[in-house]
Amino acid sequence: MTTSPQRVLSVVGTRPNFMKMAPILAELQRHPDTFASTLVHTGQHYDAGMSDVFFSELGIAAPDHSLDVGSGSHAAQTARIMERLEPVLEAEQPDVVLVPGDVNSTLAAALVASKMGLTIGHVEAGLRSFDRSMPEEVNRILTDRISDLLFTHSPEARDYLLSEGADPSSIHYVGNTMIDTLVALRDQIDTAGAAAAHGVEPGRFLLVTLHRPALVDGPMLGQVLGGLGELARDMPVVFPAHPRTRGAIGGLPGGDAPGLQLVDPLGYLEFLSLLSGAAAVLTDSGGIQEEATYLGVPCLTLRDNTERPVTVSMGTNVLLGLRPERVGEVPQLIEQVRGRQARVPPLWDGASAQRIVAILGNLVQAGPGNAADDHN
Ligand code: UD1
Repeated sequence: MTTSPQRVLSVVGTRPNFMKMAPILAELQRHPDTFASTLVHTGQHYDAGMSDVFFSELGIAAPDHSLDVGSGSHAAQTARIMERLEPVLEAEQPDVVLVPGDVNSTLAAALVASKMGLTIGHVEAGLRSFDRSMPEEVNRILTDRISDLLFTHSPEARDYLLSEGADPSSIHYVGNTMIDTLVALRDQIDTAGAAAAHGVEPGRFLLVTLHRPALVDGPMLGQVLGGLGELARDMPVVFPAHPRTRGAIGGLPGGDAPGLQLVDPLGYLEFLSLLSGAAAVLTDSGGIQEEATYLGVPCLTLRDNTERPVTVSMGTNVLLGLRPERVGEVPQLIEQVRGRQARVPPLWDGASAQRIVAILGNLVQAGPGNAADDHN
Protein backbone atom coordinates (compact mmCIF):
# COMPACT_ATOMS: atom_id res chain seq x y z
CA MET A 1 0.00 0.00 0.00
CA THR A 2 1.36 3.44 -0.88
CA THR A 3 0.64 6.41 1.36
CA SER A 4 0.67 10.00 0.19
CA PRO A 5 3.57 12.15 1.44
CA GLN A 6 3.08 14.09 4.65
CA ARG A 7 2.42 17.76 3.87
CA VAL A 8 4.81 19.93 5.90
CA LEU A 9 4.30 23.68 5.62
CA SER A 10 7.05 25.93 7.02
CA VAL A 11 6.63 29.61 7.79
CA VAL A 12 9.60 32.02 7.78
CA GLY A 13 9.61 35.79 8.00
CA THR A 14 12.82 37.30 9.32
CA ARG A 15 16.56 37.03 8.90
CA PRO A 16 17.15 34.71 11.89
CA ASN A 17 14.40 32.34 10.67
CA PHE A 18 16.19 31.58 7.43
CA MET A 19 19.26 29.87 8.89
CA LYS A 20 17.10 27.90 11.35
CA MET A 21 14.85 26.50 8.63
CA ALA A 22 17.28 26.02 5.70
CA PRO A 23 18.63 22.64 6.91
CA ILE A 24 15.13 21.35 7.71
CA LEU A 25 13.84 22.33 4.26
CA ALA A 26 16.85 20.61 2.66
CA GLU A 27 16.31 17.46 4.72
CA LEU A 28 12.58 17.33 3.86
CA GLN A 29 13.50 17.59 0.19
CA ARG A 30 15.84 14.64 0.54
CA HIS A 31 12.79 12.45 1.27
CA PRO A 32 10.26 13.31 -1.45
CA ASP A 33 8.39 10.03 -1.01
CA THR A 34 7.75 10.79 2.65
CA PHE A 35 7.27 14.57 2.66
CA ALA A 36 5.79 17.28 0.47
CA SER A 37 7.31 20.56 1.67
CA THR A 38 5.74 23.99 1.21
CA LEU A 39 7.37 27.28 2.21
CA VAL A 40 5.61 30.50 3.18
CA HIS A 41 7.56 33.79 3.58
CA THR A 42 5.58 36.36 5.53
CA GLY A 43 7.76 39.24 4.30
CA GLN A 44 8.33 40.62 7.82
CA HIS A 45 11.87 41.25 6.59
CA TYR A 46 11.80 42.41 2.99
CA ASP A 47 15.00 44.32 2.16
CA ALA A 48 17.24 42.37 -0.21
CA GLY A 49 20.02 42.46 2.41
CA MET A 50 17.72 41.18 5.15
CA SER A 51 16.02 38.45 3.12
CA ASP A 52 16.89 37.61 -0.52
CA VAL A 53 20.61 37.15 0.10
CA PHE A 54 19.87 34.43 2.65
CA PHE A 55 17.68 32.49 0.25
CA SER A 56 20.45 32.42 -2.33
CA GLU A 57 23.36 31.73 0.02
CA LEU A 58 21.56 29.10 2.08
CA GLY A 59 20.15 27.37 -1.00
CA ILE A 60 16.51 27.88 0.00
CA ALA A 61 14.13 27.56 -2.95
CA ALA A 62 11.85 30.53 -3.65
CA PRO A 63 8.85 30.51 -1.31
CA ASP A 64 5.65 28.93 -2.60
CA HIS A 65 3.67 31.75 -0.98
CA SER A 66 4.83 35.31 -0.17
CA LEU A 67 2.57 37.28 2.14
CA ASP A 68 4.42 40.61 1.70
CA VAL A 69 3.30 41.96 5.07
CA GLY A 70 6.20 44.41 5.56
CA SER A 71 6.60 46.68 8.58
CA GLY A 72 4.03 47.97 11.03
CA SER A 73 3.28 48.08 14.71
CA HIS A 74 3.52 44.69 16.43
CA ALA A 75 -0.25 44.31 16.43
CA ALA A 76 -0.66 45.41 12.82
CA GLN A 77 2.19 43.20 11.58
CA THR A 78 0.95 40.17 13.53
CA ALA A 79 -2.64 40.71 12.39
CA ARG A 80 -1.63 41.11 8.75
CA ILE A 81 0.32 37.85 8.84
CA MET A 82 -2.66 36.05 10.38
CA GLU A 83 -5.13 37.38 7.82
CA ARG A 84 -2.94 36.54 4.86
CA LEU A 85 -1.81 33.13 6.11
CA GLU A 86 -5.26 31.71 6.85
CA PRO A 87 -6.34 31.28 3.19
CA VAL A 88 -2.95 29.72 2.40
CA LEU A 89 -3.39 27.11 5.12
CA GLU A 90 -6.96 26.50 3.98
CA ALA A 91 -5.73 25.85 0.45
CA GLU A 92 -2.69 23.77 1.43
CA GLN A 93 -4.28 21.72 4.25
CA PRO A 94 -0.88 20.80 5.75
CA ASP A 95 -0.43 17.88 8.14
CA VAL A 96 2.18 19.83 10.11
CA VAL A 97 3.03 23.54 10.29
CA LEU A 98 6.63 24.31 11.29
CA VAL A 99 7.43 27.68 12.87
CA PRO A 100 10.98 28.66 13.93
CA GLY A 101 12.19 31.05 16.60
CA ASP A 102 10.40 33.86 18.38
CA VAL A 103 9.53 36.64 15.97
CA ASN A 104 6.10 38.08 15.23
CA SER A 105 5.83 35.78 12.19
CA THR A 106 6.33 32.76 14.47
CA LEU A 107 3.48 33.58 16.83
CA ALA A 108 1.13 34.80 14.09
CA ALA A 109 1.56 31.58 12.12
CA ALA A 110 1.18 29.37 15.19
CA LEU A 111 -2.04 31.15 16.17
CA VAL A 112 -3.60 30.70 12.75
CA ALA A 113 -2.61 27.03 12.61
CA SER A 114 -3.86 26.45 16.14
CA LYS A 115 -7.27 27.94 15.41
CA MET A 116 -7.53 25.64 12.39
CA GLY A 117 -6.70 22.59 14.52
CA LEU A 118 -3.45 21.88 12.66
CA THR A 119 -0.42 20.15 14.20
CA ILE A 120 2.29 22.73 15.01
CA GLY A 121 6.01 22.10 15.41
CA HIS A 122 8.02 24.84 17.12
CA VAL A 123 11.70 24.84 16.19
CA GLU A 124 13.74 26.39 19.05
CA ALA A 125 11.12 25.80 21.73
CA GLY A 126 11.61 26.47 25.43
CA LEU A 127 13.90 29.51 25.35
CA ARG A 128 13.12 31.96 28.14
CA SER A 129 14.67 35.32 29.06
CA PHE A 130 12.04 35.83 31.81
CA ASP A 131 11.77 39.40 30.53
CA ARG A 132 8.30 40.03 29.19
CA SER A 133 9.18 43.54 28.09
CA MET A 134 10.83 41.82 25.08
CA PRO A 135 8.24 41.07 22.39
CA GLU A 136 10.16 37.89 21.58
CA GLU A 137 9.57 36.49 25.09
CA VAL A 138 5.80 36.79 24.70
CA ASN A 139 6.06 35.23 21.24
CA ARG A 140 8.05 32.29 22.68
CA ILE A 141 5.74 31.56 25.58
CA LEU A 142 2.57 31.70 23.51
CA THR A 143 3.98 29.73 20.59
CA ASP A 144 5.20 26.96 22.89
CA ARG A 145 1.86 26.85 24.63
CA ILE A 146 -0.06 26.06 21.44
CA SER A 147 2.53 23.84 19.72
CA ASP A 148 2.24 20.04 19.58
CA LEU A 149 5.89 19.29 18.85
CA LEU A 150 8.45 21.23 20.90
CA PHE A 151 11.90 20.92 19.31
CA THR A 152 14.45 22.17 21.84
CA HIS A 153 18.11 23.01 21.37
CA SER A 154 19.49 23.27 24.89
CA PRO A 155 19.09 21.19 28.03
CA GLU A 156 17.40 23.84 30.19
CA ALA A 157 14.56 24.33 27.68
CA ARG A 158 12.95 21.06 28.73
CA ASP A 159 12.83 22.17 32.38
CA TYR A 160 11.23 25.50 31.49
CA LEU A 161 8.63 23.81 29.30
CA LEU A 162 7.78 21.19 31.94
CA SER A 163 7.48 23.88 34.61
CA GLU A 164 4.88 25.58 32.40
CA GLY A 165 2.87 22.38 32.08
CA ALA A 166 4.03 21.07 28.69
CA ASP A 167 3.33 17.41 27.95
CA PRO A 168 6.71 15.63 28.32
CA SER A 169 6.03 13.51 25.23
CA SER A 170 5.79 16.68 23.10
CA ILE A 171 9.36 17.78 23.96
CA HIS A 172 12.17 16.61 21.70
CA TYR A 173 15.76 17.66 22.37
CA VAL A 174 17.14 17.79 18.86
CA GLY A 175 19.98 20.34 19.02
CA ASN A 176 20.47 23.56 17.13
CA THR A 177 19.47 23.82 13.46
CA MET A 178 21.20 27.19 13.10
CA ILE A 179 24.44 25.37 13.89
CA ASP A 180 23.52 22.81 11.17
CA THR A 181 23.65 25.69 8.69
CA LEU A 182 27.02 26.82 10.00
CA VAL A 183 28.44 23.29 9.82
CA ALA A 184 27.09 22.77 6.28
CA LEU A 185 28.62 26.01 5.01
CA ARG A 186 31.83 25.92 7.06
CA ASP A 187 34.16 25.58 4.09
CA GLN A 188 32.59 28.54 2.31
CA ILE A 189 32.70 30.57 5.53
CA ASP A 190 36.36 29.73 6.06
CA THR A 191 37.33 30.80 2.55
CA ALA A 192 35.15 33.91 2.29
CA GLY A 193 37.97 36.20 3.47
CA ALA A 194 35.65 38.89 4.82
CA ALA A 195 38.22 40.40 7.21
CA ALA A 196 40.57 41.26 4.35
CA ALA A 197 37.65 42.63 2.31
CA HIS A 198 36.91 45.01 5.19
CA GLY A 199 40.58 45.95 5.59
CA VAL A 200 40.95 44.43 9.07
CA GLU A 201 43.32 41.79 10.39
CA PRO A 202 41.91 38.44 11.56
CA GLY A 203 41.86 38.22 15.36
CA ARG A 204 42.37 41.96 15.82
CA PHE A 205 39.00 43.61 15.30
CA LEU A 206 35.70 43.88 17.13
CA LEU A 207 32.48 42.95 15.31
CA VAL A 208 29.34 44.76 16.49
CA THR A 209 25.61 44.20 15.89
CA LEU A 210 22.84 46.01 17.76
CA HIS A 211 19.18 46.17 16.84
CA ARG A 212 16.96 45.74 19.89
CA PRO A 213 14.57 48.57 20.67
CA ALA A 214 15.87 48.81 24.26
CA LEU A 215 19.29 49.85 22.97
CA VAL A 216 18.60 51.38 19.63
CA ASP A 217 15.44 53.44 20.12
CA GLY A 218 16.76 55.58 22.99
CA PRO A 219 19.78 57.50 24.29
CA MET A 220 21.94 54.41 24.87
CA LEU A 221 22.80 54.05 21.20
CA GLY A 222 24.67 57.37 21.26
CA GLN A 223 26.57 56.26 24.37
CA VAL A 224 27.55 52.96 22.74
CA LEU A 225 28.72 54.78 19.61
CA GLY A 226 30.85 57.08 21.75
CA GLY A 227 32.44 54.07 23.47
CA LEU A 228 33.06 52.32 20.16
CA GLY A 229 34.69 55.44 18.75
CA GLU A 230 37.17 55.47 21.68
CA LEU A 231 37.82 51.74 21.38
CA ALA A 232 38.32 51.97 17.61
CA ARG A 233 41.51 54.00 18.15
CA ASP A 234 43.21 50.77 19.27
CA MET A 235 40.99 48.05 17.87
CA PRO A 236 39.17 48.45 14.55
CA VAL A 237 35.41 48.01 14.78
CA VAL A 238 33.17 46.62 12.03
CA PHE A 239 29.49 47.35 12.65
CA PRO A 240 26.96 45.95 10.13
CA ALA A 241 23.80 47.85 11.03
CA HIS A 242 20.23 46.52 10.91
CA PRO A 243 17.91 49.00 9.11
CA ARG A 244 16.37 49.97 12.46
CA THR A 245 19.82 50.79 13.86
CA ARG A 246 21.00 52.55 10.72
CA GLY A 247 17.94 54.76 10.87
CA ALA A 248 18.63 55.68 14.50
CA ILE A 249 22.36 56.31 13.94
CA GLY A 250 21.50 58.75 11.13
CA GLY A 251 20.78 61.50 13.61
CA LEU A 252 23.66 60.84 16.04
CA PRO A 253 27.25 62.11 16.26
CA GLY A 254 30.09 59.55 16.47
CA GLY A 255 29.15 57.22 13.63
CA ASP A 256 32.12 58.46 11.60
CA ALA A 257 34.90 57.97 14.21
CA PRO A 258 38.24 56.78 12.70
CA GLY A 259 38.51 52.98 12.82
CA LEU A 260 34.74 52.48 13.15
CA GLN A 261 33.22 51.03 9.97
CA LEU A 262 29.44 51.29 9.79
CA VAL A 263 28.26 49.03 6.98
CA ASP A 264 24.96 47.72 5.62
CA PRO A 265 23.61 44.36 6.84
CA LEU A 266 25.80 41.55 5.50
CA GLY A 267 24.95 38.25 3.87
CA TYR A 268 25.30 35.05 5.86
CA LEU A 269 28.70 33.91 4.54
CA GLU A 270 30.30 37.33 4.85
CA PHE A 271 28.95 37.84 8.35
CA LEU A 272 29.98 34.40 9.60
CA SER A 273 33.40 34.85 8.01
CA LEU A 274 33.83 38.12 9.93
CA LEU A 275 32.53 36.54 13.14
CA SER A 276 34.89 33.59 12.91
CA GLY A 277 37.83 35.97 12.45
CA ALA A 278 36.86 38.56 15.07
CA ALA A 279 38.68 39.09 18.37
CA ALA A 280 35.17 39.27 19.83
CA VAL A 281 31.62 40.25 18.98
CA LEU A 282 29.62 42.87 20.87
CA THR A 283 25.92 42.23 20.30
CA ASP A 284 22.34 42.24 21.54
CA SER A 285 21.31 39.44 19.15
CA GLY A 286 20.15 36.02 20.30
CA GLY A 287 21.47 33.84 17.50
CA ILE A 288 24.94 35.40 17.45
CA GLN A 289 25.46 34.28 21.07
CA GLU A 290 25.08 30.71 19.79
CA GLU A 291 27.19 31.06 16.66
CA ALA A 292 29.99 32.69 18.68
CA THR A 293 29.86 29.86 21.21
CA TYR A 294 30.12 27.30 18.45
CA LEU A 295 33.07 29.14 16.87
CA GLY A 296 34.79 29.78 20.23
CA VAL A 297 34.74 33.56 19.69
CA PRO A 298 34.20 35.73 22.81
CA CYS A 299 30.67 37.15 22.77
CA LEU A 300 29.95 40.27 24.83
CA THR A 301 26.20 40.68 25.11
CA LEU A 302 24.83 44.15 25.85
CA ARG A 303 21.67 42.92 27.54
CA ASP A 304 20.46 42.35 31.10
CA ASN A 305 19.42 38.78 30.35
CA THR A 306 19.69 36.01 27.82
CA GLU A 307 17.24 33.33 26.75
CA ARG A 308 20.30 31.27 25.85
CA PRO A 309 22.01 30.69 29.24
CA VAL A 310 23.87 27.66 27.91
CA THR A 311 26.07 30.08 25.94
CA VAL A 312 27.11 31.67 29.26
CA SER A 313 27.40 28.50 31.37
CA MET A 314 29.24 26.45 28.71
CA GLY A 315 30.19 28.80 25.92
CA THR A 316 31.94 32.09 25.26
CA ASN A 317 29.15 34.49 26.18
CA VAL A 318 29.34 37.21 28.87
CA LEU A 319 26.31 39.28 29.82
CA LEU A 320 27.41 42.89 30.20
CA GLY A 321 23.98 44.21 31.17
CA LEU A 322 22.28 47.00 29.32
CA ARG A 323 25.24 49.23 30.20
CA PRO A 324 26.89 51.15 27.35
CA GLU A 325 29.71 52.29 29.65
CA ARG A 326 31.03 48.71 29.67
CA VAL A 327 32.14 49.05 26.04
CA GLY A 328 35.36 50.50 27.47
CA GLU A 329 36.10 47.14 29.16
CA VAL A 330 36.08 45.16 25.91
CA PRO A 331 39.87 44.44 25.76
CA GLN A 332 39.95 43.05 29.34
CA LEU A 333 36.75 41.07 28.80
CA ILE A 334 38.21 39.40 25.72
CA GLU A 335 41.19 38.24 27.80
CA GLN A 336 38.86 36.88 30.50
CA VAL A 337 36.82 34.84 28.03
CA ARG A 338 39.94 33.50 26.33
CA GLY A 339 40.97 32.07 29.70
CA ARG A 340 37.77 30.00 29.95
CA GLN A 341 37.32 26.34 29.06
CA ALA A 342 34.42 27.00 26.69
CA ARG A 343 32.56 24.05 25.16
CA VAL A 344 29.98 23.48 22.46
CA PRO A 345 26.63 22.37 23.94
CA PRO A 346 25.51 18.78 23.31
CA LEU A 347 23.81 18.04 19.96
CA TRP A 348 25.05 21.26 18.34
CA ASP A 349 26.61 18.93 15.82
CA GLY A 350 25.14 19.64 12.39
CA ALA A 351 22.54 16.85 12.54
CA SER A 352 19.60 18.57 14.27
CA ALA A 353 17.46 18.90 11.14
CA GLN A 354 17.86 15.18 10.53
CA ARG A 355 16.54 14.51 14.03
CA ILE A 356 13.54 16.78 13.49
CA VAL A 357 12.69 15.21 10.15
CA ALA A 358 13.08 11.71 11.62
CA ILE A 359 10.53 12.65 14.29
CA LEU A 360 8.16 14.01 11.63
CA GLY A 361 8.68 10.74 9.73
CA ASN A 362 7.64 8.78 12.79
CA LEU A 363 4.40 10.77 12.84
CA VAL A 364 3.66 9.48 9.35
CA GLN A 365 4.29 5.88 10.35
CA ALA A 366 2.64 6.00 13.75
CA GLY A 367 -0.03 8.70 13.31
CA PRO A 368 -0.19 11.88 15.38
CA GLY A 369 0.02 11.37 19.14
CA ASN A 370 2.33 8.36 18.79
CA ALA A 371 5.53 10.10 17.80
CA ALA A 372 8.63 8.21 18.92
CA ASP A 373 10.46 10.23 21.50
CA ASP A 374 13.99 11.11 20.51
CA HIS A 375 16.77 12.29 22.80
CA ASN A 376 14.52 13.36 25.63
C1 UD1 B 1 12.82 41.17 14.34
C2 UD1 B 1 12.43 40.26 15.49
C3 UD1 B 1 13.65 40.01 16.38
C4 UD1 B 1 14.84 39.53 15.57
C5 UD1 B 1 15.12 40.53 14.44
C6 UD1 B 1 16.29 40.09 13.59
C7 UD1 B 1 10.09 40.49 16.24
C8 UD1 B 1 9.24 40.97 17.34
N1 UD1 B 1 11.40 40.85 16.31
O1 UD1 B 1 13.12 42.44 14.90
O2 UD1 B 1 13.33 39.02 17.32
O3 UD1 B 1 15.99 39.42 16.40
O4 UD1 B 1 13.93 40.64 13.65
O5 UD1 B 1 16.64 40.99 12.62
O6 UD1 B 1 9.61 39.84 15.34
N2 UD1 B 1 13.06 46.92 8.48
C9 UD1 B 1 13.59 47.28 7.26
N3 UD1 B 1 13.87 46.29 6.36
C10 UD1 B 1 13.61 44.99 6.62
C11 UD1 B 1 13.07 44.64 7.87
C12 UD1 B 1 12.82 45.61 8.80
O7 UD1 B 1 13.81 48.44 6.98
O8 UD1 B 1 13.87 44.14 5.75
C13 UD1 B 1 12.78 47.94 9.48
C14 UD1 B 1 11.27 48.09 9.67
O9 UD1 B 1 10.75 49.06 8.88
C15 UD1 B 1 11.15 48.45 11.13
C16 UD1 B 1 12.37 47.83 11.76
O10 UD1 B 1 13.29 47.52 10.74
O11 UD1 B 1 11.22 49.82 11.33
C17 UD1 B 1 12.01 46.64 12.58
O12 UD1 B 1 11.61 45.52 11.81
P1 UD1 B 1 10.73 44.32 12.45
O13 UD1 B 1 10.67 43.20 11.51
O14 UD1 B 1 9.48 44.87 12.97
O15 UD1 B 1 11.53 43.87 13.72
P2 UD1 B 1 13.08 43.72 13.97
O16 UD1 B 1 13.55 44.84 14.80
O17 UD1 B 1 13.82 43.45 12.70
